[in-house]
Parts: sequence; C-alpha cells; structure tokens
Amino acid sequence: MPLQDITPINNQLADIIVRADEPWIEYDPGMAWIKPLWVGPETGRWIALLRWTKGFVAPGHKHLSDAHTFMLKGKLQIRDGVISEGDYDYEPNGVIHTEVTALEDSEYLFACEGPVLFYDEDGLTTYLGWEEITRMTEAAKAERKKTTRKKATKKKVTKKKATKKKVTKKKATKKKVTKKKATRTLDWHKKAAKKKATKKKATRKKR
Ligand SMILES: [Fe+2]
Repeated sequence: MPLQDITPINNQLADIIVRADEPWIEYDPGMAWIKPLWVGPETGRWIALLRWTKGFVAPGHKHLSDAHTFMLKGKLQIRDGVISEGDYDYEPNGVIHTEVTALEDSEYLFACEGPVLFYDEDGLTTYLGWEEITRMTEAAKAERKKTTRKKATKKKVTKKKATKKKVTKKKATKKKVTKKKATRTLDWHKKAAKKKATKKKATRKKR
C-alpha cells in the first residue's frame, strides 16, 4: 500500500519502506547476514544492512564503483585501520581491497554505487551487485514461503490426527457404555431368574 498519493500528478510514485522486522538473509551460516534495503537496476546502485559476527572475514575485493559505509555497531579491521560505531568510510571506485575482519559483532549500512568483485589467491570468486542482491532476496522469500507452507501442512496433519484420536476415544467410550448397559441387562436377567427360582422353591416347600 503506497504511503503517499499525489494523484493525478504521478500515481506511479510511492515510498519503499523496509520495516525493522524484515528478516535478515544469512549468507555465511552463523557468521554473516545481509538485509537488502533497496536496489536500483537502472543505475546498479544497492543499499543494504550487513551484520557480521566477531571473527568473520570478508575476502579481498575490488570495487567496481564507489561505496559508502556507516558503522552502526561494532568494529571492523579494514587494512591498517579500524572503523567503529558512528564512523563513516568512503571507498572510491576501482580500489582493490584486502580482507575485512569483524573485530566485534558488527552492523553497518552499506550503500554501493555498483558491483563488488571478490577474489582469492586463485582469482575471482564472487560478483556482488544488484542482480545478486535481488536473487538472494527472492530466494529468501521463496524459502520463507516454503517454510510457512510446510508449517501449515504440519499443523493441518496434527489437527487431523487429534480429531481422529478424539473420534476413536469417543467410539471407545460409546463401546464401554454399550458394554456396561449389556452387563446391566444381563445382571437384571440373572436376578429375575434367581428370584423366579427362589419363588418356585418356596411354592414347592409350601406344598
Ligand atoms: Fe572495500
């Protein structure tokens, strides 16, 4: 639902809001997460929040555009310097950077004007641009949908099983009641027969 309406000037305009509870995407298990905020396919720009656990090491990389980092929490070792909470770092287009290490659990806002190319000693490894960010976002959404569907199915099966159990219990109770009634009838017949026999005996005695 758009948060602004300036119809008829331009009904295509609307803010894009990423809510605080938008889930993070884990891209290195237990160590690194990304929360994409915005991608601009027409310019290649992308903005994201990144969260790294202490000890995470991001590989060496080359910036194919300039980038802006604003530290929200923690400490990062960037080459021979350290940036901490509240610091801002500008990385120019074309620079080649070595590894970046999280010295503490860290979070930062990253605004990139284009892609970043990662490398190791054998050559290029990963390309991170708006296309990859979009792919990651869509994959995470699909995964969440799958999990929700799985949970719903499980809930349905559990409910079905519970209903079946309830029906079985009800049937068992009904059977028990029927048996009880039958026993009672049998007892009544036995008592009546006994009474009859006693009466017969008494009559015979009288004679
Ligand atoms: Fe860098």
